[in-house]
Amino acid sequence: MSKIDDFLKKYLQHPDDIDYEETLNAFIEDMDKGLNGEESTLMMIPTYLSVSDYIQRGKKVLAIDAGGTNLRLGLVSFSEEGYELSRFYKQKMLGVGEPLDKEQFLDRLSDLILPYLDETDSVGFCFSFPSEITPDKDGIVLSFAKEVYISGCEGMHIGAELSRVLHEKGVEKPVYFYLLNDTVATLLGGPIIENTDGQIGFILGTGTNTAYLEKTENIRKIENDSENMIINMESGMFGRVKQGYFDQLVDSKSAKPNDHLFEKMISGVYLGKVIRETLIQAFYEELFNTNSRILQLPEFDMAAVSIYLDDRHGNNLLAEACYDESDHQSMDEIIDRALERAAKLVSINLLAIILKTGGGKKAPIQIVVEGSTFHKCLPLQNKIIAYLQKEAVEKYGRQYRFDQGEDVNMLGSAKAVLCNK
Ligand code: BGC
Repeated sequence: MSKIDDFLKKYLQHPDDIDYEETLNAFIEDMDKGLNGEESTLMMIPTYLSVSDYIQRGKKVLAIDAGGTNLRLGLVSFSEEGYELSRFYKQKMLGVGEPLDKEQFLDRLSDLILPYLDETDSVGFCFSFPSEITPDKDGIVLSFAKEVYISGCEGMHIGAELSRVLHEKGVEKPVYFYLLNDTVATLLGGPIIENTDGQIGFILGTGTNTAYLEKTENIRKIENDSENMIINMESGMFGRVKQGYFDQLVDSKSAKPNDHLFEKMISGVYLGKVIRETLIQAFYEELFNTNSRILQLPEFDMAAVSIYLDDRHGNNLLAEACYDESDHQSMDEIIDRALERAAKLVSINLLAIILKTGGGKKAPIQIVVEGSTFHKCLPLQNKIIAYLQKEAVEKYGRQYRFDQGEDVNMLGSAKAVLCNK
């Protein structure tokens, strides 16, 4: 045990402070409760969507991907040869860095949608925030997260409200909205694999969440005669996890304290903040040189951490905060343990689904993954793989495969419209 390990243990921020079995069992238990409609920290939202071989070809759909960082729009259509994405447009997500109210949000978004309605009347809307999907495929906003500020939207039927505003702006034809969570779009939009035993859509980017294919008979809180249905877990809200002191600090300073606790321990917009709080306390406890610039560190995200790990002595924020080699060592260890802890939690999240569904036995379970924190922070990705190898493959004999693809969320959003007969 190094000094850094002792320091982290004192603040319950060490990877060993997470009890693997206990957390895994709590995760599975909350999945079950959420599906039964009992009190649970996991929302387990039914989507009324399944995975289908059918796809309507030749029809253009407007795909909207409203994420924690970016907003993307484009027309998607499928043919025998593949898919086409046209008139692609991307900007910063509405409400990021500039608080908006509901009407401003609807006004700006409808302005962006309007020009596309000359080519389509159907919108697949990938919405990266908690929302309840109604059987008519519209959705009700439950809250915003990931430090996106749009007030007064709770309870809003997104599709219905956008239709109202579009109508006020002169659109006469009906516009059909199909709302889906981004993890659901990820699951639907990933590469099609012949032989899989289960399907998961997982996002580890600015925020985190997981969707998976569940037997409808296990979703006891609804009545529906489909065989399988995709469930949006809202896994970033899992709350039966032991927070460390720095996790609590970051939570208390966030826009919504006591919400999305799991997300605040593992995802891009928060993990950097947790690391920064850890570094600052470590400085006060003399684990860094007094000449270091730890206290001057501005807030940073996981991109800054990845840049440091790629070039420890380069021209970057975290490297420049270190004064000497011993500072680099402390910095490295703090980051390493933070990534180790996040990887442990991510593997628990994924293994809980594998065990709960019984997947990964006859063939690998497919996990389509999106998100910069997973794809750009390779040391974290490798640690996740190592945990899954040990826990899922060696201990439980389950196989899995990670997949990714181009334009996954845009394609998944269009498929939500076009796979419906
Ligand atoms: C939201 C989820 C979303 C996830 C990943 C979370 O903050 O609650 O709905 O899927 O971020 O974008």
